Amino acid sequence: MGIQRKDLLSIHDLSQSEVFEILDLAKDLKAKKKRGEEHHLLKGKTLGMIFSKASTRTRVSFEVGMWQLGGMALFLSSKDLQIGRGEPIQDTARVLSRYVDGIMIRTFSHDNVKELAAHSTIPIINGLTDLLHPCQALTDIFTVLEYKGSLKGLKMAYIGDGNNMVNALMQACVKVGMDISAATPKGYEPDAEIVAEAKEDAKATGSTVTLLNDPLAAAKGADVIYTDVWASMGQESEQAIRAKAFKGFQVNNEVMAAANKGAIVLHCLPAHRGEEITDEVMEGPQSVVFDEAENRLHVQKAIMALFMGKK
Ligand code: CP
Ligand code: NVA
Repeated sequence: MGIQRKDLLSIHDLSQSEVFEILDLAKDLKAKKKRGEEHHLLKGKTLGMIFSKASTRTRVSFEVGMWQLGGMALFLSSKDLQIGRGEPIQDTARVLSRYVDGIMIRTFSHDNVKELAAHSTIPIINGLTDLLHPCQALTDIFTVLEYKGSLKGLKMAYIGDGNNMVNALMQACVKVGMDISAATPKGYEPDAEIVAEAKEDAKATGSTVTLLNDPLAAAKGADVIYTDVWASMGQESEQAIRAKAFKGFQVNNEVMAAANKGAIVLHCLPAHRGEEITDEVMEGPQSVVFDEAENRLHVQKAIMALFMGKK
């Protein structure tokens, strides 16, 4: 068992079969957890969790997940690590490699995570950067698979900011043959390099990546409606400007009416009701956001087991 590449920094780096290996193991681990069956795939292993940004889901699901796999996790706030006082990433990488069996990191710069990976001898898992949120996007396609039974040919509509979430979702969708349409205000498009790469990857699975500025056009015929906050962590000072720019980029009943009848609604959370999503949709029958949040636990356990459990 195990994925042979060392790190999970970006879904683009994974093959389609590696993505499905993660989804399959997540399904198995979820079932085992529900049946109360032991699944100590990482007995005696340790995960260091470096956080430079806030977190509820990521921190708790990785920590609890590691425990359920028979290992333990250490919460390492970058404020308290020497890294916060200027110790180089490459030194931190080499030191932590001597103590723990894997690192999950949530930080601002994606390049810092690449540097950590380049200088460590243990698996590095990206727990969110300004560019990507791969663990969340893998969880999202797992959740779609649970609800829809298959992925190929489905359409996801993303409405809102062209941020780390939509970047990762584009990578995930094209890997599994899902179409994705992203509607953002002008000037808030997803990362251009990731879009180009995703369009290239889409050729292999016959899927499409479409960028629009019209939420209703994006939602038309969608099986999955996705949104995320208008101002991500680190963009707090832009909140007011963004609130203006994103008016009309809200998941509400009008958007839901444009989507397919059985469409599900996903949101990585935390949500700002009344901004990117109405309370009505968030609490409505098509919203599966809390199942999605739960699935972080199961999918990340699979990720940890496959990346850290290599023989
Ligand atoms: N969705 C997500 O990553 O949530 P947290 O910021 O709470 O970890
Ligand atoms: N785009 C959001 C996702 C939070 C899970 C952020 O980066 O703050």
